[in-house]
Amino acid sequence: MFRSLYARMMALLLSALILALSLLSVLLYQSIRDDKIEARLNDLSIQAAEIAYLASQRTSLSLQMERYLYRKVEDVQRDFGAAILVLDRLGRTIQVGLEDGSIQGLTIDEANEYLRQVVDTGEPIRIRVPAHVGVGAAFTVVVPWKQSDIVMGAVFIHTSAQTIQASYRPVLLRMALSMALAAALAGALLIAVTRGITRPVRRMSRAAERIARGEFDTQIPEGRKDEIGALARAFNEMARGLSKVEEMRRAFVSDVSHELRSPLTSMQGFLQGMLDGTIPPEDLDKYINIVLDETRRMNRLVGSLLELSRIESGKTPLAIARFELNEFIRMAIIRQEARIDEKKLDVDVEFRQDPCYVSADSVRVDQVLTNLIDNAIKYVQPGGTLTIWTHVVNDLAHITISDNGPGIPEEELPYIFDRFHTVDKARTSGMGTGLGLAIVKKIIELHNQSIRVTSTVGKGTCFMFTLPYTP
Ligand SMILES: Nc1ncnc2c1ncn2[C@@H]1O[C@H](COP(=O)(O)OP(=O)(O)OP(=O)(O)O)[C@@H](O)[C@H]1O
Ligand SMILES: [Mg+2]
Repeated sequence: MFRSLYARMMALLLSALILALSLLSVLLYQSIRDDKIEARLNDLSIQAAEIAYLASQRTSLSLQMERYLYRKVEDVQRDFGAAILVLDRLGRTIQVGLEDGSIQGLTIDEANEYLRQVVDTGEPIRIRVPAHVGVGAAFTVVVPWKQSDIVMGAVFIHTSAQTIQASYRPVLLRMALSMALAAALAGALLIAVTRGITRPVRRMSRAAERIARGEFDTQIPEGRKDEIGALARAFNEMARGLSKVEEMRRAFVSDVSHELRSPLTSMQGFLQGMLDGTIPPEDLDKYINIVLDETRRMNRLVGSLLELSRIESGKTPLAIARFELNEFIRMAIIRQEARIDEKKLDVDVEFRQDPCYVSADSVRVDQVLTNLIDNAIKYVQPGGTLTIWTHVVNDLAHITISDNGPGIPEEELPYIFDRFHTVDKARTSGMGTGLGLAIVKKIIELHNQSIRVTSTVGKGTCFMFTLPYTP
């Protein structure tokens, strides 16, 4: 039961509504009933006082008054549905109307007891007679009648609670009707509001199922301004994110396959040529070397890919330590000395901050330096110049590696750090895998630092990155 959110909310809200309305009805009913009883008893007290007055005048004007009294008693009996008893202080009935001298629900003893009370105090009393077997609840008003300030007897007006009920039953009926109407209206409103909440939730769960099936372009309406609307916007944001990740994954797989396929195809061609004799035996060495180069390149590519995925997965946390950066730069250049000499490059090193201590993962920083220096050496023309300098601004060590090589076209700059992105495939083909800068960027980001590139075609390229300086 109540498995769905909708049913649960409805059940909860409807029971709250019914409970509130019932409570209100009971309170209203009680207050109306008390008011009506009070008003009726006040009326009866007034009538009793009038009868008491007539009774007190009775002896002096005798017959005329007797008739007035008789008629008054009759009127009140008829108009109020009440039983009336006029007694003298000895308990004798002095009015015609109720021959047996008693009223239903009130025994002679009780009547005498009340009479005594009234005679003793001279004050009127009101008695609520509770219901007992066969007889419903009733009310009795007892008012003394006096002659020259002496209590001569009492007027009893006795009425059943039922006759009072008759006076407020229509009010009750109207109340019940308006409550029912209110309940119906509130119920309808509730249904509408709850639907308004649960429908978008259901829509979202269906959309989530579609996303789980791989339909990442799923979007849901997000027009609402409330929390549901915010949830819908967050949901769509998530769907877009997933869609982007999926797109990147596909692009990545296709890039990797493409990057692996071209060397594999060329190797296959060379090996086939060696086998079937298309490649003459005297050229074998040359082609075997080409194949060897290709396998080395593929090895590098796979190594770089693994490296990138390791960095991205965050499985190898940074080993932050304080070290002297300039020494690392010197070492990185020395490692490339053979290539620098071969290309007859001019290397210009300027350490404006020396020594330059930084806090970072030294192995990763070495990777960054090696990649950037490798690029500069690789792309600059023979005889070109490499400039490397470090300086400190506001607690940050700035490292700049620039060359006066071919430069990178402006429209390529935004993509230069993307994986597999190489400028001018034809010119740089076989020179690199296009993963170096992607790895560099990831490492710098892991350190919460930034890397920038500026370049002018024909003039040169300049990479700048920062590291936290710790003097
Ligand atoms: N100093 C530079 N001068 C000119 N072009 C550059 C320079 N550095 C990078 N590029 C361009 O940016 C591209 C991406 O560089 P990245 O280092 O990511 O890849 P790569 O050097 O081609 O391959 P890898 O570094 O994986 O061996 C390069 O292919 C090259 O076109
Ligand atoms: Mg590179």
